[in-house]
Amino acid sequence: MPERCDPYVYYHRVRPFIFGSKDNPDLKNGVIYEGQYDNKSQFFRGETGAQSSIMPTLDGALGVEHSEDSLRHYLNEMREYMPVDHRKFIEEVESKSTVKDIIKDSITLTDAYNQCLEEIRAFRELHLHYARTYIHNQSKQKNPFGAGGSTIRGTGGTPFMKYLKKHRDETEQQKH
Ligand code: HEM
Repeated sequence: MPERCDPYVYYHRVRPFIFGSKDNPDLKNGVIYEGQYDNKSQFFRGETGAQSSIMPTLDGALGVEHSEDSLRHYLNEMREYMPVDHRKFIEEVESKSTVKDIIKDSITLTDAYNQCLEEIRAFRELHLHYARTYIHNQSKQKNPFGAGGSTIRGTGGTPFMKYLKKHRDETEQQKH
């Protein structure tokens, strides 16, 4: 991200094109895709890394759990934007992972497990930094594009920062 896309350019010139039409105060009537959906207005969330199956799969496989919060509901909704097979795979992995039992009696495996969690924690740390520099800080500046976009309340503001931090901390706490 930082090598090829400046935060100002991302927020002001790229992000407006990936805004969602659901819960977006600037697109109250949704979007009509001419010739599609019987020309009826559609309401979709904007593009976000939360629609990637990578992190939920890793959390699921390693048994990393996140306590209920308002990001949770949104993240579950994001699964509807994944390919159906990805969604099913995540559910399968979440319900069947036995990793925690397997590592229990082995120091070597517990160390390896903790290293995996450290990688996920480090991802969430860097990701938090991106969310801060690319969205949160930029949202404080005046811009001509309104407030929409891929935020949990569609306000382009702060709420997601708290939950991204919480996910990072919960990853750390679940090391053995
Ligand atoms: C500049 C780059 C990025 C920014 C500014 C950013 C911002 C955000 C924001 C604001 C959220 C909160 C939910 C939402 O509004 O959708 C989020 C969630 C998330 N993003 Fe990103 N993101 C970036 C890149 C990525 C990348 C490359 C990935 C890789 C898969 C990713 C994965 C996730 C995941 C998995 C979540 C859910 C939270 C979690 O599991 O801890 N993001 N991101």
